[in-house]
Amino acid sequence: MSSGGFKGLLFDFGVSSLKLENIVTRAEELFSNAENNHTLEQVKSKFLGKTGLITDQLKKLKAVPVKEKAKLGKDINEAKKRIEELLHARREEITDAELNEKILNSSIDVTLPGKGNNSIGSCHPITQTLDRISTLFNSMGFSIIDGPEIESDYYNFTALNQPENHPARSMHDTFYLLNHDFLLRTHTSPMQIRHMEEFKPPLRIVSPGRVYRVDSDATHSPMFHQLEGLWVDPSVSFANLKGLMREFLRVFFERDDIEVRFRPSYFPFTEPSAEIDMLFDNNWLEIGGCGMVHPKVLDNVGINTESYQAFAFGMGLDRLAMIRYKVEDLRLFFESDIRFLKQFT
Ligand code: PHE
Repeated sequence: MSSGGFKGLLFDFGVSSLKLENIVTRAEELFSNAENNHTLEQVKSKFLGKTGLITDQLKKLKAVPVKEKAKLGKDINEAKKRIEELLHARREEITDAELNEKILNSSIDVTLPGKGNNSIGSCHPITQTLDRISTLFNSMGFSIIDGPEIESDYYNFTALNQPENHPARSMHDTFYLLNHDFLLRTHTSPMQIRHMEEFKPPLRIVSPGRVYRVDSDATHSPMFHQLEGLWVDPSVSFANLKGLMREFLRVFFERDDIEVRFRPSYFPFTEPSAEIDMLFDNNWLEIGGCGMVHPKVLDNVGINTESYQAFAFGMGLDRLAMIRYKVEDLRLFFESDIRFLKQFT
């Protein structure tokens, strides 16, 4: 249909509201005649476009006597609004109809092989690291145990000889739950207490899992992973602890030349305490903390300190994964970017 053709049908209307009504009716008619969105858009421009009928009306408004202007302006705007509504409704109708037709006309052969790649997925690199480390300790006689991520203040701090005013207890580092008796565990050490409360020594466990601290940058994430280790035995010593850590790192990194350093440190639940550092490509990297379990901690769980000694260690699993895979930004592990994760399949 040529534009002249249908414009002619609308004749040269004046400015009365009756004529405006005619425009609306005509728009409705032509909209419903339009069978696809392309035609619809063309029709639309005849009414609402720059030189469309409604725009024309608005232009003519200038010449109208002041008395009538307000009422007429309002009428034109109402007509415009109505046309827009009609247009919108028809657009939806057309889109629905097109979709229905598509569905009716397409048949799906469910026996055809799917598109896309047939990747079966794989474990996340941190999970792979966690599994690998657990298996390794398991082969050295450690049981693998799991524990809650929502912990009580008692297990996370008090039972671990962490006094009320210890900096790690500050609101700064710890995610507390609304009820301040509970928190997201800041380390895996509460698992030492839980295990010693439940089982009689001798004990040998590792407990991997998520821990939480208010911290976020290239090497810190508010959620990260640790692996806790505990060995309770009548005669276990700091020398055994050092030997175990060295052996673990040697096997984990598959390198015989790994240098390990035990740097004196402080933890309320071990005495003496040390930081475990490892020399990697000429840099000393801190990979965890360790020490002989403090007698007060053993007392808290009713283990006789005359008959038993214990050592404990806590390692950052994400750090170990970063070193092993040479990943420089910890956040990459938690952004779920498939291009990054695919490298570990
Ligand atoms: N829980 C300590 C930390 O998160 C690490 C640690 C574990 C230290 C066991 C000593 C013994 O920093």
